[in-house]
Amino acid sequence: MEAEELRVGFVGAGRMAGGLARGLLRAGKVPASSVVASAPSDKNLDTWRESGCRTTHCNLEVLQESTLVFLATKPHVLPGVLQEIRPAVGPHHVIVSLAAGVTLQTLQRSWHPSPIPISPQLLPAGTKVLRLMPNLPCVVQAGAMVFARGSGAGDEEAALLKNLLSSCGLCEEVPESYINIHTGLSGSGVAYVYLFAEALAEGAVKMGMPGGLASRIAAQTLLGAAKMMLETGEHPAKLRGDICTPGGTTIHALHQLEKGALRATVMNAVEAATNRACDMAED
Ligand SMILES: NC(=O)c1ccc[n+]([C@@H]2O[C@H](COP(=O)([O-])OP(=O)(O)OC[C@H]3O[C@@H](n4cnc5c(N)ncnc54)[C@H](OP(=O)(O)O)[C@@H]3O)[C@@H](O)[C@H]2O)c1
Repeated sequence: MEAEELRVGFVGAGRMAGGLARGLLRAGKVPASSVVASAPSDKNLDTWRESGCRTTHCNLEVLQESTLVFLATKPHVLPGVLQEIRPAVGPHHVIVSLAAGVTLQTLQRSWHPSPIPISPQLLPAGTKVLRLMPNLPCVVQAGAMVFARGSGAGDEEAALLKNLLSSCGLCEEVPESYINIHTGLSGSGVAYVYLFAEALAEGAVKMGMPGGLASRIAAQTLLGAAKMMLETGEHPAKLRGDICTPGGTTIHALHQLEKGALRATVMNAVEAATNRACDMAED
């Protein structure tokens, strides 16, 4: 599908949808005139209109006007949305759900026209569905996203999604079983990093540095360390070792972190969030 003929729709126009759309527009992946978003209120739609995108309060209109459709409502709203859009979903559509905890199995449970109403919230059989799990930094085009494809989606759809979303950060295709792990590592992981950044800055405040400056330096330290990891491709243990002068400041500090069991605590945190994501998906 050529970028100029691609029409992208968003059902739900909140923070995550807005972040993805901004990435696509900034990278020139699609023109604003080819993007349409729907939401019940104008609360978020004003911003979309200011960017030149089209907006509507009618979800069906998004389906009628686009081929690639992101379902970006909160998960509890999604069953109603699926029921509403189902009559307009066709074989030309590629449907990408962002809803946390809503599995591909749920999304693609087939619905066939029948006099007996069965599972009224489901999409037509064979619909090309993919499940995307973004994280919050997608809104500044520095996200870490994974996606899994449903049985109706092929290489073409996966490549399309990966190519488009590369404008919003790292985007990798994974088996669906990794999606909850991604939530524990990266979705929730962003909050662990904020906690670490806060502690880093407060350490500096304790030693006499003004808070604002300490915060900015803490953020830049995380950014720089992350960039080194990505650009060198080195294992973090190697990069850490490079900073440790024998008998120097860093090894003294690392000893304190080891005494506080930082590594085991962070591993426990990833495990706890992953398990919670699995539990929530089963509810
Ligand atoms: N935020 C994250 O960090 C994150 C991470 C991973 C996955 N996700 C997933 O991304 C999805 C969106 O999250 P978000 O943070 O962007 O939520 P959000 O900011 O609350 O946005 C939700 C959007 O859905 C719209 N909406 C509500 N009911 C609707 C309906 N019946 N039809 C169409 N649109 C409707 C809302 O309309 P109004 O504008 O009128 O309020 C709003 O625009 C969720 O499923 C979440 O699980 C989010």
